[in-house]
Amino acid sequence: MTSTNPIGVFDSGIGGISIWKEMVHYLPNENTIYLADSKNAPYGERSKEEIISLSVKNTELLLKKNCKLIVVACNTATTNAIDYLRSNYDVPFIGIEPAIKPAALNTKTNAIGILATKGTLSSDLFHSTSQKFTEGINVIETIGEGLVPLIENDQINSIEMEHLLQKFLQPMLRQKIDYLVLGCSHYPFLIPQIKKIVGNKITIIDSGEAVARQTKAILERNNILNNSTTKPSHKVFSNADIKTLARIVNSIDTSASVAFLNF
Ligand code: SIN
Repeated sequence: MTSTNPIGVFDSGIGGISIWKEMVHYLPNENTIYLADSKNAPYGERSKEEIISLSVKNTELLLKKNCKLIVVACNTATTNAIDYLRSNYDVPFIGIEPAIKPAALNTKTNAIGILATKGTLSSDLFHSTSQKFTEGINVIETIGEGLVPLIENDQINSIEMEHLLQKFLQPMLRQKIDYLVLGCSHYPFLIPQIKKIVGNKITIIDSGEAVARQTKAILERNNILNNSTTKPSHKVFSNADIKTLARIVNSIDTSASVAFLNF
């Protein structure tokens, strides 16, 4: 594996672009390939076995494209499948876990909210991380049911989205949370809408920057950080309609190519 090989990134759809965006900024020399498995979204409602099998399909495609490291840019796939992937493939895998630790360490009201999918909140990895850091803290876990399909269908500013967010966030506000952890890579796209409801007194935490930092550290440790100054190539593939994806990707990097691929 050489350092110029691309970094592979996959998600159940558009959401992981919030992670990819941080990587493109933080690792400006790296070539990337992104797979949006929108055809099979949302992963958060699927069984562990299904999530593993979809993660294997995405991984094998990225390996065929010679990726040197794979970022699982999906909380649901990370919490359910990353152990399996690490045990079965040789490349390094970076996952995203909900950032419970910084929220638990910094809360002043002793109450934090976590918005994530059913698949993430019911996973063993989530439970063990939560137990480790939140003793004595009131943790309000809420399943963001319905949010991912609306984001995938370009309904971020819809009335339906506003209703769902009010329904999920008002109970957290009543319990006086001061930190809100976004435990799904799709949800950072909702930060402006969430801020309208929770105001500026609540700190919203997502994992994009931490994932980019961790990716750099692992590339360095494995001696595969790309130091070439050639303009990097970014290829984004989706197995569903690419219109919304292309608009979002090109607002981040106009040189990235976005194409349909049947995977
Ligand atoms: C989903 O596909 O349900 C959301 C992905 C995530 O958990 O990040």
